Amino acid sequence: MLEDNRVKPTTVLSDPRGILDVGAPVLAMPVWPPESGGDDGSGDDAAAGDREVRVAWIGPGGAEVVETLGIDLFTVLEREDARGAAGEIVSVPVLAEGRGAASADGEVDVERIVLVGMGDASPAAHRKAGAALARALRGTSRVASTVTSASDEAGLRAFVDGLLLSTFQLDTYRSTPAKPKTLPLDTLVLAGTGEAVHTAVDTAVVMARAAWFARELVHTPPNVKDPEWLAERAREIGRAGSVDVHVRDEKKLEAEGFGGIVAVGMGSARPPRLIALRYEPEEIGPDAPHVVLVGKGVTFDTGGLSLKPRESMVTMKTDMTGAAVVMGVMSALPALGVRARVTGLVAAAENMPGASAQRPSDVIRQYDGTTVEVLNTDAEGRLMLADGIAYAVAELEPSAVVDVATLTGAATVGLGRTHAALYGTDDELADALIAAGAATGERMWRMPLVDDYRQALESTVADVAHLDTQRMSGASIAAALFLERFAAGVPWAHLDMAGPGRAEKDKDELVKGGTAFGVRALLTWLTPPPQDPE
Ligand code: BES
Ligand code: MN
Ligand code: ZN
Repeated sequence: MLEDNRVKPTTVLSDPRGILDVGAPVLAMPVWPPESGGDDGSGDDAAAGDREVRVAWIGPGGAEVVETLGIDLFTVLEREDARGAAGEIVSVPVLAEGRGAASADGEVDVERIVLVGMGDASPAAHRKAGAALARALRGTSRVASTVTSASDEAGLRAFVDGLLLSTFQLDTYRSTPAKPKTLPLDTLVLAGTGEAVHTAVDTAVVMARAAWFARELVHTPPNVKDPEWLAERAREIGRAGSVDVHVRDEKKLEAEGFGGIVAVGMGSARPPRLIALRYEPEEIGPDAPHVVLVGKGVTFDTGGLSLKPRESMVTMKTDMTGAAVVMGVMSALPALGVRARVTGLVAAAENMPGASAQRPSDVIRQYDGTTVEVLNTDAEGRLMLADGIAYAVAELEPSAVVDVATLTGAATVGLGRTHAALYGTDDELADALIAAGAATGERMWRMPLVDDYRQALESTVADVAHLDTQRMSGASIAAALFLERFAAGVPWAHLDMAGPGRAEKDKDELVKGGTAFGVRALLTWLTPPPQDPE
C-alpha cells in the first residue's frame, strides 16, 4: 500500500564521546531512587518532611551537565516530586541562557533534558523506562543518552526492547502520513559506550525489530493479508538471505494429505498455504539440534459455519499471531548467528463460512492419518497445528517441536493478558522457554496435560474428536491434549497465547492491538549466551 508511510523503529547507536559531545539537542539521563530504606544519607529525613530529597543521584555525567548548563536538576526533581520510579519522566526545557554552552566547541544547542526514573533497576524496570522515554521523545530526531550507563546486559537489552517497541505503529494504510510529532524517536545515541555495549545492544535491536516486523503482520488488515500474502512475506524473508522458503499451495496440501489445513481453508475463496522457512547455518554439524516452530496462521477467524458472535469476531485478524511470531523469529536467526537448525512451519488459512466450508460433524484426516471428528468449526487452529506437528515429526527429525497459537479464549479466561499458557511433554524444554520468557517479559505459565481429561476427546465416529465432547471444561487443556498426540513422543511444547497476544491498551512496551508475544522469548531461547572472553 502506501510504503512511504512505513514507520521505522528508533535507531540505537553507541558513541564513546560524552553526553554533551555527541551533538544531540536532547539529553536523556537516569534518575535513581534512594537506596532501599529511603535514607538519602543526609541524616535529617524526619526534619526535612515534604522537602526531603527523595532522589539519590542522576546517572554519570549528571554533575557535568548541571554545571555546564547551569540548571539545578536536583531542585527540578524535588519540585516535581520525582521519586525515580521506573518510567517516571521529568522533562526539563533548556532556555536560552543554557544554549550554546553545551558542547566543548559551543556548537550544539541543548534544548531539553529528559530524566527517566530507573526504579529498582531490574530488567522489568529498564523495559518500563525505555518505553516511557520513547513515548516522551516521539517526534525527536536525535537524543544523547546516559540512561543505561550503569546497567548490566539484561537491563540494557530490556531498555532497548521498551524503547523500540513502545512506539510501534503501522501507518501504511493511512492516506496521509502521520504528523512528524507523533513518529518514533529517530536516533538514540548511547553516549560514552564502546564495542562491548554495542554487541549487547545489537542483539536487543535485532530481536525488537523481529517483534516489530511480526506486529506489522498482525496489525495488517485481513482483506490484505490472506494466506498467499503471508507466503509472499515469507519469500521476502528468504530473499533477505540465509533462510530457505518453500510454500505448498492448496493442491499440494490436498495431494500430500494435510487434511486439517485443507478443511479449515476450504470455506474461503482465498486458499490455504503451508509455508516452510528453513534456517541451517553452514558451520554446524549434522548432530546439531533441529528445532521446529509451528505457527497458527488464521488470517481471519469468523468461526466458519460455527460462526462467532459479532463482537468476538472483530479482533480476529490477530488470529495469525502464532504465524507472525514464527516468521519474526525466522527473520532474525541469521543476524543473531543462531547455532541450530530451525524450521518454521506456518499453517495459513482463512476460516470462512463459504459454500464449500467444512461442516460441524465432518470427519477429516490429518497428515499422520488420524481421523478427526470436527464438531465446532471455530476450533480450527488445532486442526492446522496438528498437520504441522505431525509433518514435523514424520519428515523433519526434530529434536524439539514448539507450536505457537492464539488457540483458545479459555487461556485468556484462566490467565488474563499477562501470561501465556504453556504446555509440554518435556520439563527441560518447558523450563527453558519459561526462563527465556521471564528474561524478555513475555511471561508463560505451565499448565497441566491432565490425564483424566483425555477421554473427553472420544468420538463416536472417528479416532478422536478435536474438542471436549463431555462438558468437562478446561478448553485450553483439551486443545493441548488434542495436539499432544501428534507430537508422538518428540519433546514438544505448546504456547497458547490468545491472552497476551493482544493488548487492550498501550502499556510499557505494548501498544493496543497485536503484541507479537513470544518473538523475543523464542529468540532468546534459541540464541546461545555470549561466550566469556578468555
Ligand atoms: N481464535 C480463537 C481463539 C481466540 C479467542 C483467540 C479469543 C483470541 C481471542 C479460536 O480459534 C477459537 O475460536 N477457539 C474456540 C474453541 C472452542 C470452540 C472449543 C474458543 O476459544 O472459544
Ligand atoms: Mn476459531
Ligand atoms: Zn482461531
